[in-house]
Amino acid sequence: MRDCKDILTIYQTTRWLSRKYNTVEEVKTEHRTLGFSNWGWLVAEHQEQVVGEIVFGAERNPASGQVGMIRSVDVDIRYQKRSIGAQLVHAAEDILRAKRIGRVAANSPPEAYNFWMKVKYFARGSLYDIQAPIKSIPTRNTAKVTAKFVDPSALPKDWVFSLIAPPGELLAIVREIVDSDKQGRILEFYSGKTLVGAGAVVRSEGRRARFVADTMPQTTDNLEEVVSRTARSSTSLKADSVFTRVSSEHLPKYQAISHWSTVLSQDIPVNRFL
Ligand SMILES: CC(C)(COP(=O)(O)OP(=O)(O)OC[C@H]1O[C@@H](n2cnc3c(N)ncnc32)[C@H](O)[C@@H]1OP(=O)(O)O)[C@@H](O)C(=O)NCCC(=O)NCCS
Repeated sequence: MRDCKDILTIYQTTRWLSRKYNTVEEVKTEHRTLGFSNWGWLVAEHQEQVVGEIVFGAERNPASGQVGMIRSVDVDIRYQKRSIGAQLVHAAEDILRAKRIGRVAANSPPEAYNFWMKVKYFARGSLYDIQAPIKSIPTRNTAKVTAKFVDPSALPKDWVFSLIAPPGELLAIVREIVDSDKQGRILEFYSGKTLVGAGAVVRSEGRRARFVADTMPQTTDNLEEVVSRTARSSTSLKADSVFTRVSSEHLPKYQAISHWSTVLSQDIPVNRFL
């Protein structure tokens, strides 16, 4: 927590375009939150001053076992281009490798793509931001699948993420609901006693809600229902339209459900096999 004072300075030099950090308390709050405790967190020091930070973790993925995720790397602009970013990435990879994780994913803003290539992360597909009016998403309520609201403080341990949602997205939205005062819902979907899917939705600005939906392994047939019911549950958040982020690989599945306005995201998903 003592490092947060220096981390504030780092963020002020690296994140000024995306978010304005004013106080150490904001950084501390972010680092104290429930979601954050699931992530590894390393800092780089130069003469006892923190000049860089990496936040990373792993989540279970049915297709490839565990997937490592680098959530952020920030190096104080005055210390950039001195291999600090690369050292932070390598240090995080060493920890992930020791946990037998074979693949690491990150989302790169366009301006950091050269850095990711230099540390041997390469683009894997692309991401799309898609949006639709809630009314245009067909209702898909079968008696076979039941939905249950989940208490975010008691998140189920048997969730297996990222079959269809991009790595980290479901956890990120759950974290947003738990850590902020924004209204949100977390849902689990069951067929009998079997968990078939999970979804989360959070109120966003301008009568919009952001959602993430995923199915469990072997239950991808339920995607339509999980997407429809997750998205439609945001009417209770007083939203008129919903949006989410999908990979190019899974975009056609969403297009089969409804008509979405689709924008190619600037962020580039990058990957490295360890
Ligand atoms: C991206 C970032 C972490 C890189 O940190 P850094 O300490 O400057 O990176 P390094 O010095 O370890 O660079 C490693 C290599 O990438 C190259 N590189 C780094 N930033 C680059 C850039 N913006 N454009 C081109 N090449 C770049 C370096 O030249 C170096 O190449 P070399 O090994 O041939 O010399 C830093 O610029 C930053 O904090 N940016 C803002 C936050 C951000 O975008 N984070 C990444 C997204 S999560």
